[in-house]
Amino acid sequence: MTQPLVIALPKGRILEEVTPLLAQVGIVPEDAFFDKEARQLQFACKGSDASIIRVRSFDVATFVAFGAAHIGVAGSDVLDEFNYPDIYAPIDLDIGKCRLSLASTQVADLDSLSSASHVRVATKYPSSTQRFFAQRGIQAECIKLSGAMELAPKLGLTPYIVDLVSSGKTLKENNLIEREVISQVSSRLIVHRTAFKTRHPEIDALLTRFRQAAHAA
Ligand code: PRP
Repeated sequence: MTQPLVIALPKGRILEEVTPLLAQVGIVPEDAFFDKEARQLQFACKGSDASIIRVRSFDVATFVAFGAAHIGVAGSDVLDEFNYPDIYAPIDLDIGKCRLSLASTQVADLDSLSSASHVRVATKYPSSTQRFFAQRGIQAECIKLSGAMELAPKLGLTPYIVDLVSSGKTLKENNLIEREVISQVSSRLIVHRTAFKTRHPEIDALLTRFRQAAHAA
């Protein structure tokens, strides 16, 4: 018997942008899904046996990569960082737009980087950061943080950070300057490759609806 479809969605800011898309696609989560205080993690969908899991953005990719969830919504920042071979990312949903950027204090002069062979960076994105610096012939020593990256330069942990920037408010309020955009970020609809093959009609129909909803927005 085929298992009910599991859809992985990210908590936080993007969820608010995903919710109208779900409505357009005809995925109607149970009421508890909209309750921010709820501790429930998996939600039923009205009128279908699919369920939704609400997890951290990095974990959406992990659940889908290993086939524990069949489809999901993940940022291109997360997909670039992990580069999971089992994830197929066919649709740019045109939501969750921001950028992955290198930032530093005014004191940390980027020009001095060109003569450096090694630099310390606080980030949630060690692979993307190392790739970015490697292209410039610089070895990046990444200190992995899960949040509040902006504190690292202030407290002398690292002179640089690599993090998401949207309005730029967080950088500004922590006296940091955006030095270079590493990549433009948006959210993608992702599918576990094997599920896409074995459940093709069902998932392909869903993809068509997501594509239409994304283009209609
Ligand atoms: C992200 C990011 C920055 C902030 C940037 O964090 O890590 O801290 O948003 O946004 P801004 O440019 O509009 O100020 P988020 O609030 O998503 O929380 P997180 O640290 O839990 O990822």
